[in-house]
Amino acid sequence: MDYFTTTSNAAKRAADCVIVGVYDRGKLSAGAKDIDVASNGELRRLVKSGDVSSKPGRCVLLTQLGGTRAARVAVVGLGKASEFDTRAFCRAVAAAIGSISDTRCKDLLNTLTLEAVEDSDAYYLARHTVQTIGDVLYRFTQMKSSRKDSRMPLRKIGLSVASRGDATKAMLGAKHGDAISEGVSLAKDLGNLPPNVCTPSYLARTAQKIAKGNGKLTTRIINESDMKRLGMHSLLSVTAGTNEPAKLIVMQYRNGGKAKPIVLVGKGVTFDSGGISLKPGPAMDEMKFDMCGAASVIGTMATVAALQLPVNLNVVVPAVENLPGSKATVPGDIVKSMSGQTIEILNTDAEGRLILCDALTYSRRFKPDVIIDVATLTGACVVALGSHHTGLMTYDDALADEIVNAGISASDRAWRLPLSKDYAEQLKSNFADFANIGGRDGGAITAGCFLGKFTDGLKWAHLDIAGTAWKSGQKKGATGRPVPMLSEFVLSRCNAVP
Ligand code: BES
Ligand code: MN
Ligand code: ZN
Repeated sequence: MDYFTTTSNAAKRAADCVIVGVYDRGKLSAGAKDIDVASNGELRRLVKSGDVSSKPGRCVLLTQLGGTRAARVAVVGLGKASEFDTRAFCRAVAAAIGSISDTRCKDLLNTLTLEAVEDSDAYYLARHTVQTIGDVLYRFTQMKSSRKDSRMPLRKIGLSVASRGDATKAMLGAKHGDAISEGVSLAKDLGNLPPNVCTPSYLARTAQKIAKGNGKLTTRIINESDMKRLGMHSLLSVTAGTNEPAKLIVMQYRNGGKAKPIVLVGKGVTFDSGGISLKPGPAMDEMKFDMCGAASVIGTMATVAALQLPVNLNVVVPAVENLPGSKATVPGDIVKSMSGQTIEILNTDAEGRLILCDALTYSRRFKPDVIIDVATLTGACVVALGSHHTGLMTYDDALADEIVNAGISASDRAWRLPLSKDYAEQLKSNFADFANIGGRDGGAITAGCFLGKFTDGLKWAHLDIAGTAWKSGQKKGATGRPVPMLSEFVLSRCNAVP
């Protein structure tokens, strides 16, 4: 994608589409004012007559408007001017793109970046413009037999700015937004692929492909015999019932000198049937999304590598398929984790923590500055937080703040749940060091507690994305979350955000 910034009048710029807006009570956005003047008040008349609405999410497409050089003007409703925040901004851009997505628009100009958005600036407005456009135009067509790509052939995005300083910020925001959008799209693709295609081996190949041709990035794949040698019997217990070989994917991006690395660990269960503790039938297909943690950390790596950020970043993905079978782990089995701690597996459907604990132990060798695991870990987290906030658990208050703030800036939010040691009581086992489940109550937190038993001495946080990684229903599909939050976390750690 190409970007440019402009300080010129919205009516005087040639483009396939220019986006302007109208607030409640007929207040026009700066770009809309330009268009209105050029058209001798036509826009105001349309607002007055009710043909153009100020309601958030509405968009009216005006073609061949007098005095305007652009082929189309997308007039979007912006709601109350006093409540125009980042969320409203993104919603407006999404509505505009939605209304032109069937056209063959090649370039557009967003003038809404001139508006006063309380919690934002030129950098973030540009970034959110590019990310939102990527989100709305994303299509998953790989598995359709008629592969005709009907996507709008957008090649150039213009951003209106008020000053030279804002232009510099906006260009950087657009560049970052483009890279994040690529990471999000990759994460969505991996999530949306069916489980018979996106196997552990497929994830491994994808990680290798990303590293190819990038001198700073290497990918290593650890196979089952090496896992045995390393003592990863907890991870191996999950893969016992399937013929698909498990893979431990290790990606290392080195561009930060001698600094200790940020380590991201992503749950990669390419299909979670529950194993012997079999899940019920309805919506079981959605358990193909149980590798979205893996997809998000690989996506974040793609973003960071594309931007060549000055940082050391490692990604570790335990990838397995969880199936029942004659060799499968059964409830009551006790396994020894790589850490040496023994685990009584009371439910084979609590498999995410069983693969993550060994991946966390393995990651100690990198002496991480900070380690964050990302997992579609518990249905309980969906009950607690729904689909708007990712669950965040950590013993480290400063790290919690850092992650929450990254989520706010990136519009990809997390909410902290209490991870006090009280909850660890629920994991007690009569036969092993502890069990892999802690009962129904506080299920997201006891899962976090379980992982916490493997992160002693590490600066660690856990993100439960069970509610945020994909959408169900008619719009079923991966969201690519939390790639924006994780990218923001890395960007701000390298002071790359102005
Ligand atoms: N992958 C699931 C979690 C999940 C369930 C995410 C539904 C999104 C929607 C995980 O492996 C799982 O099965 N967790 C169990 C844990 C329980 C057995 C302690 C759960 O949440 O029911
Ligand atoms: Mn499960
Ligand atoms: Zn699972």
